[in-house]
Amino acid sequence: MNSVFICLLCGLSCGVFGKSKELKGKYSVPILDVKTRELVLDTNQTLLLNCRGRWEVKWLLPAGLASDQESARVEQSRCGRTAQQYCSRLTVRRALVNHTGMFRCRYRRRTRRQTSVYVYVTDSRRPFVELRGNSPDVLFMKEKQPLVIPCRVTHPNVTATLVKFHDHKLPPDHRNIIWNSRQGFIIRSPNYFYVGLFFCQATVNGTTHSSHIYFVHRPVSNIMKVYLNSSDPVQALKGERMALNCTATGELNTRVNITWDYPGKKNNTGSVTKRILNNKTHLLFYSILTIPRLQRTDRGLYTCSVTSGGKLKQEKVTVSVYDRPFIRLKPRHGAVLKAQAGQKSYRISPKLKAFPTPEVIWLKDGKVAAEQCSRYHMDDNSLVIRDVAEEDAGTYTVLVRIQEHRLFQNLTLKLDVNVSPQIGEKAVSLQDPGSVPQGSRQALHCTSRGFPPPNIHWLWHPCPTKGLSAAPRA
Ligand SMILES: *[C@@H]1O[C@H](CO)[C@@H](O)[C@H](O)[C@H]1NC(C)=O
Ligand SMILES: *[C@@H]1O[C@H](CO)[C@@H](O)[C@H](O)[C@H]1NC(C)=O
Ligand SMILES: *[C@@H]1O[C@H](CO)[C@@H](O)[C@H](O)[C@H]1NC(C)=O
Ligand SMILES: *[C@@H]1O[C@H](CO)[C@@H](O)[C@H](O)[C@H]1NC(C)=O
Ligand SMILES: *[C@@H]1O[C@H](CO)[C@@H](O)[C@H](O)[C@H]1NC(C)=O
Ligand SMILES: *[C@@H]1O[C@H](CO)[C@@H](O)[C@H](O)[C@H]1NC(C)=O
Ligand SMILES: *[C@@H]1O[C@H](CO)[C@@H](O)[C@H](O)[C@H]1NC(C)=O
Ligand SMILES: *[C@@H]1O[C@H](CO)[C@@H](O)[C@H](O)[C@H]1NC(C)=O
Ligand SMILES: *[C@@H]1O[C@H](CO)[C@@H](O)[C@H](O)[C@H]1NC(C)=O
Ligand SMILES: *[C@@H]1O[C@H](CO)[C@@H](O)[C@H](O)[C@H]1NC(C)=O
Repeated sequence: MNSVFICLLCGLSCGVFGKSKELKGKYSVPILDVKTRELVLDTNQTLLLNCRGRWEVKWLLPAGLASDQESARVEQSRCGRTAQQYCSRLTVRRALVNHTGMFRCRYRRRTRRQTSVYVYVTDSRRPFVELRGNSPDVLFMKEKQPLVIPCRVTHPNVTATLVKFHDHKLPPDHRNIIWNSRQGFIIRSPNYFYVGLFFCQATVNGTTHSSHIYFVHRPVSNIMKVYLNSSDPVQALKGERMALNCTATGELNTRVNITWDYPGKKNNTGSVTKRILNNKTHLLFYSILTIPRLQRTDRGLYTCSVTSGGKLKQEKVTVSVYDRPFIRLKPRHGAVLKAQAGQKSYRISPKLKAFPTPEVIWLKDGKVAAEQCSRYHMDDNSLVIRDVAEEDAGTYTVLVRIQEHRLFQNLTLKLDVNVSPQIGEKAVSLQDPGSVPQGSRQALHCTSRGFPPPNIHWLWHPCPTKGLSAAPRA
C-alpha cells in the first residue's frame, strides 16, 4: 500500500518535471507544419496549414482571404502527447489568386510571438494579385519615404516592369527602383518624376499583362504658420464657455490635419468646428475648439497639432479654471515701507492675485495718486514714484475691484521717506564767533533736519595753540 503511494507521488513529480522540460524554450513561438518561408500553390488547390503552440493560437490571414470568410475553415483542438498543447488547422479548399499573401499564426494573448509563411496562389493568366479596376487608386508620396507601387504578383518568379503613362518603361535598377514580388515596385527616394499615372507590366508565357493603374500624388505640405489666438495662459471661470482658435496658413493646395489634445479629450468635453478660407495666395485653416461649460478637470495644457505630409507644427496654451472670482491682496514686506529721499525710483507693489482682471486704483492720503503728482505712475498693479522726495511720505491705499462680481478689497501702506541729516548752519557761511571773554555765558546753535529726526551730539575739540604745536619742531 505504502509503496504504491510513493510510486504515485514519484510518477506525479516526474510528470511535472517532464512537462516543464518539454515546454521550456520550445514553442516560445507557435510552430507551423511547413518548414519553408514561402509556398507556391496553383489556383483551386487546397491550402492546408497546421499550427501548434503551448497557448491558444490565432490566424492572421491576407486581406483577400480575411474578407472572404467562407473560403477559410479553422479547427481548434488540444493536441500533444498529454493534450496540453493547442493546435489549429486552417483549410482553404479552393485557393484563389487574391488569397496570395502572408499567413501568420500567433498566440492569442502574446500577439508578438508569431510564425508566418508567404503563400503565392498562381494563375498564369493572372500574374498580378490586384485586378485591373476601372479607376486608378491614389497613392500619396511622402517626403523622404519610399514609395510603393503595390503591383505584387502571384508567382515568385514573375518579374515586372514599371511603366509611367503612356509608355515610359522603368525596369528595376536595384538602386532606386526595386522589384519585390510580395510588395511590387519600391522607389527608394521618390521625386517629382514619380508623380503621375503608373502601372506594372509582366510577360508570362509570351503574353503581356498589365496591373491595376495607380495615380501618384504628392501633396503639397507647406504649413507656414500656426498660431493660437491666445498665446498667454488662459484663465476662466468654472461653468463658462471657452473657445480656442487655431489657425494654420499654408500654400494653396496644402492639405492639413488639425487635431487637438486637451485634458477633457477622452470625455469628449469639447467640440471642434473647422473652416478653410482661400485668400487667393494662401489657404487659411481654422479649427475652433469649444468647451461649453468649463469644469475644474478642464484645467491643463491645450495643444493644437497641425500635420501635413509628415510635417508637424504645434502650439500650446495652458488653461486655468477658477471656481469663483477672487481678489487676494496683501502687503509684500509689511505695512510700513521705507524709501530714501533722492532715490531714482521707488516701487510700491503689494501681492495681488485676482480673477477676472480687476480694476486697480492708487490713492495717496485719500486722493487719487496720479492726479496729485506727475512723478507717480502705475506700472502693472504697482505704484512707481520717480525721484523720491520727502513729501512722498504718507499713506498709500490700493483699491482693487471687480465690479461685475461685486468684489472689493483695499490695502493701506505707510511710506516713510528717510532724509539724511543736514545741519542748517553749514549752509550759511559760519561767522567766526571770535574771542569771548573768559567766564561769560555763550549759546551755540545747531539746527538740524532729517527723517527720522536726527540725534545731535556736541563734540569739543581743544584748539591747537600755535606754541604747543610748534614746540616739538623747534
Ligand atoms: C478553378 O475552378 C473553377 C471552377 O471549377 C474553374 O472555373 C476555374 O477555371 C479553375 N481555375 C483554374 C486556374 O484552374
Ligand atoms: C477574390 O476573387 C474572387 C473571384 O476571383 C472575387 O469574387 C472576390 O470578391 C475577391 N475578393 C477580394 C477581396 O478581392
Ligand atoms: C505556358 O504555356 C504552355 C502552353 O501554352 C503551358 O503548358 C504552360 O503551363 C505555361 N506555363 C506557365 C508558366 O503558365
Ligand atoms: C523559379 O526560378 C528558379 C530559378 O530561376 C527556378 O529554379 C525555379 O524552379 C522557378 N520556380 C518555379 C516554380 O518555376
Ligand atoms: C477665429 O476663427 C475665425 C474663423 O471662424 C476667423 O474668422 C477669426 O479671424 C479667428 N479669430 C482669431 C482671433 O484668430
Ligand atoms: C479665440 O477665438 C475664439 C473663437 O473665434 C473666441 O471665442 C475667443 O474669444 C478668442 N480668444 C481670444 C483670446 O481672442
Ligand atoms: C488626422 O489625424 C488623425 C489623428 O492623428 C488621424 O486619425 C486622421 O486619420 C488624420 N486624417 C488625415 C486626413 O490625415
Ligand atoms: C471624465 O469623466 C469622468 C466621469 O464623468 C470624470 O470622473 C473625470 O474627471 C473626467 N475627466 C476629465 C478629464 O474631464
Ligand atoms: C493671405 O493670408 C496670408 C497669411 O495670413 C497673408 O500673408 C497674405 O497677405 C494674405 N493675402 C491676401 C491677398 O489677403
Ligand atoms: C477699505 O475696506 C474697508 C473694509 O474692508 C472699508 O471699510 C473701507 O471703506 C475701504 N476703503 C476705501 C477707501 O474704499
